[in-house]
Amino acid sequence: MVIGLGLIGGSFARGIREAGLADEVVGCDPDSTTQRLARPLGVVDVMTGDLAEAVRGADLIMLAVPVMAMENVLQQLATLDLGQAVLTDVGSTKGAVVNAVERAFGRIPALFVPGHPIAGSERSGVEAARGDLFKRHKVILTPLEQTSSQAIAMVTQLWQALDADVESMAVADHDEVLAATSHLPHLLAFSLVDTLAARSENLEIFRYAAGGFRDFTRIAGSDPVMWRDVFLANRDAVLRSLDAFTKDLSRLRAAVEERDANTLLGVFTRAKAAREHFSTILARRAYMESMQTTSINFIASPGGRVQGRARVPGDKSISHRSIMLGSLADGVTEVEGFLEGEDSLATLQAFRDMGVVIEGPHHGRVTIHGVGLNGLKAPPGPLYLGNSGTSMRLLSGLLAAQMFDTTLTGDASLSRRPMGRVAKPLREMGARIETANEGRPPLRITGDSKLMGMDYVMPMASAQVKSCLLLAGLYAAGRTSVTEPAPTRDHTERMLRGFGYPVKVEGSTVTVEPGHRLTACKIDVPADISSAAFFMVAASIAEGSDLLLEHVGINPTRIGVINILRAMGGDLEVLNEREVGGEPVADIRVRYAPLKGIEIPLDQVPLAIDEFPVLFVAAACAQGRTVLRGAEELRVKESDRIQVMADGLQALGIRAEPTPDGIVIDGGTIHGGRVDSHGDHRIAMSFSVASLRATGDVHIADCANVATSFPDFIGLAQSVGIQVRTEEHA
Ligand code: S3P
Repeated sequence: MVIGLGLIGGSFARGIREAGLADEVVGCDPDSTTQRLARPLGVVDVMTGDLAEAVRGADLIMLAVPVMAMENVLQQLATLDLGQAVLTDVGSTKGAVVNAVERAFGRIPALFVPGHPIAGSERSGVEAARGDLFKRHKVILTPLEQTSSQAIAMVTQLWQALDADVESMAVADHDEVLAATSHLPHLLAFSLVDTLAARSENLEIFRYAAGGFRDFTRIAGSDPVMWRDVFLANRDAVLRSLDAFTKDLSRLRAAVEERDANTLLGVFTRAKAAREHFSTILARRAYMESMQTTSINFIASPGGRVQGRARVPGDKSISHRSIMLGSLADGVTEVEGFLEGEDSLATLQAFRDMGVVIEGPHHGRVTIHGVGLNGLKAPPGPLYLGNSGTSMRLLSGLLAAQMFDTTLTGDASLSRRPMGRVAKPLREMGARIETANEGRPPLRITGDSKLMGMDYVMPMASAQVKSCLLLAGLYAAGRTSVTEPAPTRDHTERMLRGFGYPVKVEGSTVTVEPGHRLTACKIDVPADISSAAFFMVAASIAEGSDLLLEHVGINPTRIGVINILRAMGGDLEVLNEREVGGEPVADIRVRYAPLKGIEIPLDQVPLAIDEFPVLFVAAACAQGRTVLRGAEELRVKESDRIQVMADGLQALGIRAEPTPDGIVIDGGTIHGGRVDSHGDHRIAMSFSVASLRATGDVHIADCANVATSFPDFIGLAQSVGIQVRTEEHA
């Protein structure tokens, strides 16, 4: 039975009735119009104004009256025999209701389950009741220690039967969260409309009030009595939220008064990003930590050839570095061609969190208002870096040298990746960094450590480790030099110079010294050769293909994929070579050519480190055997790329034998089948390409992370002739 048939109580009753979840739904409400309307509207089976009669024999009593009216109803209920009825409520504040229950019953009954559906409408009354009001809305239950688990289960099942998502929280947490996310915005909406309505020119104002006013104040149409009660009942938590907001509002007022454009832009860009973030979190697709990640699967159908022109998104490595160095520069840096993928956006968000004003990205344009080498501020919480190893490794060097503490976290894949390779040398420089077991994230970095420069000989060829130490070296006393066992991508060195910071390169050793500054500049990010690689292989393996890849970065430390494909017999032409902002760029024409298996030269391994998954697909389509050695680094990428590719190729009928530091692949016929990308973007895209030569559909599981480096991979792939699509979920 339901006490109080307003919008929420009425909708609950109606939903229960429509779903046939109770033999009889009884309603009780003191209002005569409600009493008259409830039955004809189909909200209840029986309607009464008498509480004692209403609760007799009830299995469940739902209290749906305004919070301040609860006390009175509860006092009456306490005098009645409720039998084994479970008591629950929908009050928007939980502390006040729980206290009222305790006062009325002298204790908190085990059969009382406090609840709050986060649903509503600016319409009120039984007339507005809808059986589907709670569909896909959250219902928060705040059970207490003594609450019976059967009672919780019963209430949970009822809400779930109405298609609500049921969650559980502590009473105090609920009230704090709701004060900020619901109560404060309602207060502001009521207040703004009231202020404007009181002005003499109000007619004019309301006449011209279009979208913004209407959107912002929609909730000022909500039930005044209910909201009065909410503020009286949740007074303390609301005051805390209101005080924080008032402080921020005064700061904005001052910024307007002082014409402080930077502060305004800072607040607005941060808020815009947070708001967009928030929609992606709700859509369960985000680089921010989300409660649940949905898996996206691809289906790639066989056949076709690859033709036309394509410009793949901006280089991931350069995009990361543009945000980092732009933030640390003096002046405003303009970036074009920025990769709007989740990895580089994670870096961008981290710098926003550290107080840097960053406009965009919008169509690949980003404007960074640099704060200088010593201008970063402590972030409000841990920096969440999603799937991005580059963000975490490069930032660790930079953050080890700041005055404030930071914690770096990431998703499940990043949380498994080795960070000891940066933590160890940084500690030798004097940094204080803690990792979880076996050098894994999260990283806890203690600020205000005095770093000393050092000469470091890297045990592995890693541009991330090199860049991390160079960034720390900008702040360390004396000289920092890094020697690499084989050449790795040198974007950090090039970009530092682009920002006017001296960098010395002698053989395999790079050296920086502190005491210089970075000066803002313009950055044109070339298309990412690692993303172009999928299409190079696609065009090479599909008969009849002829594809032009435009504006591709061909930094000599990145062109292993071109060299290896050519050695296999690939037909790749590098056209229109030019230099853009310190990085060499070209258009690359790729035509189909029969490939042959090769022994991959060791010196090409670091130059093609990210392209091996798709090169393995090329090997599977080649005549003969391809052997890769010296690539143990592949085992610690976003997934163990040797094992995961071997498993996938084998599932498609290819002989692929993993070795500790590489793989042996015999070219053959690729069958249709099912493969798992293990959340690794490059594996997902590689198997999409493999479909061009498959004899049946290739189903690829766990592809959501393609968005980390190649947001519209599917669209671009389809546009040149690869028949890959997202699997529709039921
Ligand atoms: C990167 C370096 C490489 C590469 C990664 C990006 C960079 O990692 O695999 O995708 O931007 O510095 P390692 O340094 O671990 O080889």
